[in-house]
Amino acid sequence: MSINRRQALTKIIGLSTAAAGATLLGTSAFAATDEAGNYRLELGEKLKYVPLDVMATAKLAYETGGGCMHQVFHAIITMLAASKSADASKFASIPTALAGYGGAGVAGQGTVCGNLNAAGMLINILDDINGQNSAIIGASFRYYETTDLPLSSAEFIAGIGSTEEKSLEVGATSIANSPLCHSSISNWSAASGKPFVEKGERCKRLSASIAYYIVDLLNRAYALEDISILPEAKPSAEAQACQVCHNKEASVMPLASVQTDMECTTCHTGHFN
Ligand code: HEC
Ligand code: HEC
Repeated sequence: MSINRRQALTKIIGLSTAAAGATLLGTSAFAATDEAGNYRLELGEKLKYVPLDVMATAKLAYETGGGCMHQVFHAIITMLAASKSADASKFASIPTALAGYGGAGVAGQGTVCGNLNAAGMLINILDDINGQNSAIIGASFRYYETTDLPLSSAEFIAGIGSTEEKSLEVGATSIANSPLCHSSISNWSAASGKPFVEKGERCKRLSASIAYYIVDLLNRAYALEDISILPEAKPSAEAQACQVCHNKEASVMPLASVQTDMECTTCHTGHFN
């Protein structure tokens, strides 16, 4: 006779199924399993990060298909599933294919870049390394906004298994000025003279670059570096100046409430000039 875990427990402790179900509801020992006793990630649950090889992760992201969000999410989760993390088997159970929607800024909408969407989805389920998860997410967004990407040193290109010949397909590096896919791609198009439809190699390398940066940050946080004090973990000086008046507390009209760490002047001109 085959019985599932809950039925087995019911027999052992001699309760009716309904009573056992009621008893089990809300107990952490069973909270993260399905009815057959298989592990299933629960809302709010955190899994243990262990340091990863940055270049191996970047290379895996470069080689992984399915769009930028899937490249970054799948690569880092796969590395963690093969790591010495106490939660390696839990990482292995995560269906990374869910990240497939994130390409081209959510299925072509050109909104939040999939690399950053992946950073958020990943870091949100990691045990909060020395309380630094939100600083790592912030630093990933600021790095993406302000850095000339994709990484293009000879060492990086060889490390991810690409070639100088493939660099011709990238054409030029560029700065996104925004966490938006639209801004990133259009600034790249302006710099390279290439259209969106030829973004393949450029965006694969961009995902490798962001995977590299995220893992580097996570490794450094794990090694007790304080990521939150880095300038790149904070909004720019200019955005911070705007936030003095425009913040999440402000609500007395005409001061509309604002919660964002994006670079304000990419979209607003400001109003004192
Ligand atoms: C000293 C406080 C203060 C600072 C600093 C400040 N603002 Fe404002 N902002 C206001 C007030 C008050 C209003 C509403 C009255 C008005 O329209 O001038 C406003 C209105 C706005 C508006 C809506 C109306 C409009 O003018 O379009 C935007 C957008 C805005 N601010 C953006 C910014 C940005 C971007 C920065 C930083 C470059 C910034 N603000 C810095 C006080 C501030
Ligand atoms: C990606 C573009 C973008 C960025 C970056 C951005 N905003 Fe906005 N913001 C908008 C849009 C779009 C609106 C809505 C404007 C409208 O409907 O007229 C808005 C609305 C506002 C308003 C209310 C405007 C009003 O008329 O009352 C304020 C104030 C504001 N933003 C401040 C900021 C500040 C401060 C920052 C940086 C910390 C920032 N924004 C970053 C796009 C942006």
